[in-house]
Amino acid sequence: MKVLVTGGLGFIGSHTVVELQNEGFEVVVVDNLSNTSLSVLDGIEKITGKKPIFENLDLREKEKVQDFFKRNSDISGVIHFAASKAVGESVEDPLLYYENNISALIYVLQQLQQKPEANFIFSSSCTVYGQAEKMPITEDAALQQAVSPYGNTKAVGEEIITDTAKVTNINAILLRYFNPIGSHPSAEIGELPIGVPQNLVPFITQTGFGLRKELAVYGDDYPTPDGTAIRDYIHVVDLAKAHVIALQRLINKKNTAKVETFNLGTGTGSSVLEVINSFEKVSGKKLPYKIVGRREGDITSAYANTDKANNVLGWKAQSTLEEAMASAWKWEQKIRG
Ligand code: WQD
Repeated sequence: MKVLVTGGLGFIGSHTVVELQNEGFEVVVVDNLSNTSLSVLDGIEKITGKKPIFENLDLREKEKVQDFFKRNSDISGVIHFAASKAVGESVEDPLLYYENNISALIYVLQQLQQKPEANFIFSSSCTVYGQAEKMPITEDAALQQAVSPYGNTKAVGEEIITDTAKVTNINAILLRYFNPIGSHPSAEIGELPIGVPQNLVPFITQTGFGLRKELAVYGDDYPTPDGTAIRDYIHVVDLAKAHVIALQRLINKKNTAKVETFNLGTGTGSSVLEVINSFEKVSGKKLPYKIVGRREGDITSAYANTDKANNVLGWKAQSTLEEAMASAWKWEQKIRG
């Protein structure tokens, strides 16, 4: 069974390629290498013993996408990760995000709609909920106007897929990730840090390693038990496994609608200070940090109601925050070693 993974050399993409290969899928990876490196292919091969087929392809080039699908007509499913994902950058360069995250999606869907049957898994985000009214967040929670072009591309992407699936042979599953963290236990693949990390956990591990002077905690005046913001941090391997299960659900025609949506989280919320404590526990190091003002656009709290993912999709996150943090720390030490 041949599966296309777009953005398959990225953080979540590469971990998903490993789990697909573990399940016996033949994987074709396309990536434009804008936010990763070819060395990730070697990492995947070290873990699974198989190097996936790889093509350097920029999905914004419509003719090249058409040509790719002509040459790969036997693809039975697509897991679409290829997208820009930095919230702050999306505010500064919205057109980069709309072109890369929307046009590319459209060009892939245009190819899939020509097939007699197509199974499509979309990398979405809990960011579509904004600050949800009620915790934990269920899939039917109201979507709120995104606070960033990045978040908007996820919400609009979901709408494009839903409208297209209605009138084509495309079956789709939208996976709304909470906060992916950690690395494969082998430390052969992980989050490749390019520039100053925007996300909390890579900034923590780089600070722990001494690459950063201290962590700036963005606000301790939130209405939460310790005043810092709460998120649902999910191990990237748990997240990757959910993609394989979702794809198998479509291939085996277990889906009960043309488009299904699942929140992928642990169901547990952790504050920034709790994440810091988990790092200190697993590393034995004291993390230098200072409290600063809130970051523009941040919400107070987001963690998933996992009932639908557990009971309908048949998937449940296995790793604890500490286990995920330990894998992130192991990866940091490996790449800096
Ligand atoms: C987590 C918490 C920060 C950095 C974003 C995107 C989401 C997904 C994950 C791509 C917040 C605090 C952070 C720092 C801090 N992106 N923080 N100091 O903002 O919840 O989600 O990244 O798929 O779609 O929206 O993640 O890791 O940036 O922040 O205090 O140096 O850590 O304020 O409370 P976020 P994050």
